[in-house]
Amino acid sequence: MKIFVSKTKAEASKEAYEVFANDISKGDIKTIGLATGSTPLDFYKYAREAQPNCENITTVNLDEYVGLAPDHDQSYNYFMHENLFDSVKFEKHYLPNGLAEDSEAECARYDKVLDENPLDWQLLGIGGNGHIGFNEPGASFEGTTQRVKLTEATLEANARFFDSIDEVPTEAYSMGIGSILKSKKIVLLAFGEEKAAAIKAMIEGPVTNEVPATALQSHDNVMVFLDEAAASLLS
Ligand code: F6R
Repeated sequence: MKIFVSKTKAEASKEAYEVFANDISKGDIKTIGLATGSTPLDFYKYAREAQPNCENITTVNLDEYVGLAPDHDQSYNYFMHENLFDSVKFEKHYLPNGLAEDSEAECARYDKVLDENPLDWQLLGIGGNGHIGFNEPGASFEGTTQRVKLTEATLEANARFFDSIDEVPTEAYSMGIGSILKSKKIVLLAFGEEKAAAIKAMIEGPVTNEVPATALQSHDNVMVFLDEAAASLLS
């Protein structure tokens, strides 16, 4: 893993964005895996400002809440349109369908999407409990797309986006860790002291399913962009 520490979240996001812009200009990205949440907001802001040419790039999102319609304002589909897709033109977008009636068929559909669109670049955030995508502690490192139950810690962390914690969907579809690891390049961003323990475990800790992000230690092309607070526990 290559670790880059910047003073602020804005600076770290800018550095990560520049890697993305450079890889696009080299023609290295045909398919990109994308994340939602607070972490990539500045990264997406830089993309909206710079308007990179993404017309030949397909996006495949990491996850979507079960039960939310694509136009629900807390769905990840809505988030992606608000923050990126309505401003930067891509070739095609894929997200799990939160309203799918048959979960098994939906996971199989998404795995087929991933097989047909091998990831060149995967943007990741990390949960305070070390999750990547919605692969919570205990998830298999070989996993493919799954319908997962969110942990109490994740529900609490995500409650800030909803009127109350009772409204946070308790399940999500998530790309599996095995699929994430197939990406040629992985770029993980983490900001704030609430991520510091997970970042230390991801980089310095033993590889364990209890901290899903430690799976990234086995990948040979991972770039990690941190602010000082997220890096504060690193030795
Ligand atoms: C989002 C995702 C999650 C988030 C993580 C951090 O698509 O897959 O793993 O990256 O929960 O969330 P934030 O960025 O809101 O702290």
